[in-house]
Amino acid sequence: MTSTAPFLESYARVMKTIQESQTFTEAFYSKLLAADERYRKLFADTEFKVQNNMLAMGLFQVYTYNMTKMVEHNLVKIGQAHGGMGLDANDFAVWKQCMMETVAQFDDQYDATVEEQWENVIDASIAIIAKQTSKG
Ligand code: HEM
Repeated sequence: MTSTAPFLESYARVMKTIQESQTFTEAFYSKLLAADERYRKLFADTEFKVQNNMLAMGLFQVYTYNMTKMVEHNLVKIGQAHGGMGLDANDFAVWKQCMMETVAQFDDQYDATVEEQWENVIDASIAIIAKQTSKG
């Protein structure tokens, strides 16, 4: 089995950045909100200072699911929280694209291996989250 150490180390660098400043979160949401008018409406009442913690929490669940599939229920809950938003597979692809661009921007040791591992980890979590939203 391939070692996921490059992802784990990149995740640690990203979390340090998120904890130290709002810049990662701001960069991510400015990309996401620029992508679609619908997203701007969905986030119209969002307090972005709080969203910094929410993004860290969401990424922590994505990370933990990569470590142990036992926490799948946390992703199910995140999926349920997105149930009424009318999201489809393309919306999750856009979210992932914005996240990959932001990680690339802030991780100074980003390379092809780190990229491939982030993609795989995010894909696995989106598969669980999106299954919930397609019902709602
Ligand atoms: C892997 C994909 C995603 C993860 C891990 C994620 C994570 C989260 C988490 C943890 C929350 C907080 C839930 C709560 O209140 O308990 C949240 C809220 C939210 N998410 Fe996501 N999300 C994802 C994809 C998306 C997508 C594709 C959209 C739409 C473009 C979206 C829009 C929102 C909105 C509008 C909120 C509510 C913000 C607020 O409370 O003001 N999310 N997300």
